[in-house]
Amino acid sequence: MSLARRHVVLGVSGGIACYKSCFLARRLTEAGATVDVVLTAAAAEFVRPVTFEALSGRPVLSSLWERGRALAHIDLAKDPDLVIVAPATANILARAAMGMADDLLTALLLARADRPVLAAPAMNDAMYANPATTANIKALAARGWHFIGPDIGALAEGPSERPGRMSEPDAIFAAAERLLAGNPANSKWSGKRVVVTAGPTREHLDPVRVITNPSSGRMGYALAEAARARGADVVLVTGPTELAPPAGLATTRVETTEEMQHALESLIPNADALIMSAAPADYRPKTHAAKKRPRTAGPLTVELEATPDILGSLERRKGMVVVGFALETGNGLAHARSKMQNKALDYVILNDATEPGAGFEVTTNRVTILGRNGKQVDLPLLSKRDVADRILDVVEEAL
Ligand code: CTP
Repeated sequence: MSLARRHVVLGVSGGIACYKSCFLARRLTEAGATVDVVLTAAAAEFVRPVTFEALSGRPVLSSLWERGRALAHIDLAKDPDLVIVAPATANILARAAMGMADDLLTALLLARADRPVLAAPAMNDAMYANPATTANIKALAARGWHFIGPDIGALAEGPSERPGRMSEPDAIFAAAERLLAGNPANSKWSGKRVVVTAGPTREHLDPVRVITNPSSGRMGYALAEAARARGADVVLVTGPTELAPPAGLATTRVETTEEMQHALESLIPNADALIMSAAPADYRPKTHAAKKRPRTAGPLTVELEATPDILGSLERRKGMVVVGFALETGNGLAHARSKMQNKALDYVILNDATEPGAGFEVTTNRVTILGRNGKQVDLPLLSKRDVADRILDVVEEAL
């Protein structure tokens, strides 16, 4: 376990996501890390220091000016293996980007800028989208900070379809482990050419009406980001989604199943792995009206034909690892195994659309990974980013 005997400073800034940092403090401590929690004044308004003291088993620091603890930041900053800032509010990111040192956490971040920093932004979605925040994150990333999230999902002020919510403690923990495990250059994914598909596809009846499905694309985007974080050379092929394209990731946008098939035909000859998490439309109208059909024309009967089975038809490079998904609504294991066989997959990721928290349009997923080698891994309900990392942990054995 890479966190055992490591010294981690957990910097907590003031946002409602502070409560999730309690779980993170506990996981880090249970993994054997020495955890020094540093709270900003605002964080201490959300969660009392005594909570973190009980979880970490160590005194919590929150002020530059505590009697008897003067210069604690110098002491603390001596040798942390990792500094985690979770939640990282818009305010702490701005202060850190400016190089301010007006409290213990910012002083520590400034004093030992050579230590790895992992930040988990959490804020209102509009604050995250603000160009000031984008610029601060970019500046910190250019100085070597690592970022995880934010996720999309419910915020304190209600549901949101835009990023802002702090990544789950499990995902932050896994990212911390990976950071401490070393350079992505040492990962099995390093330099591997990985094609990931995501989202639904759309088939037109006429210029304004389509057949599609509720896939959000989140699982595929999470896989693409997770593979890139491990040093892979990733191309994301995505159907229409609301998601912002991951910054700096090669992305090909397609609309129909046939367009996705063509995009893959040109990418696959160079790929080491294909992760097919898209939900391509299986049917398309046999004819496509060039003009919008008026509603007054009465009832409409549409004849549908099957779209190409992309996985079934692709010419594969020898040795390429192929991962498919099976979204089922019952009898999942049997259907997934037969898809693995029929589509010649190395792994199939089974999820059940009827299970709460799994499948389409949610930020979490619960999957079972099946391998051609007979492997079966049942994962608990996790954030999609965490699921992505656990899938990559299994699939890398075949690379
Ligand atoms: N898939 C594909 N081409 C399609 C439809 C699906 O390559 N036209 C891929 C999906 O990306 C997924 C896998 O095939 O990785 C299984 O998709 P799924 O919809 O579960 O299976 P289908 O082949 O469509 O079978 P069925 O609809 O009968 O369950």
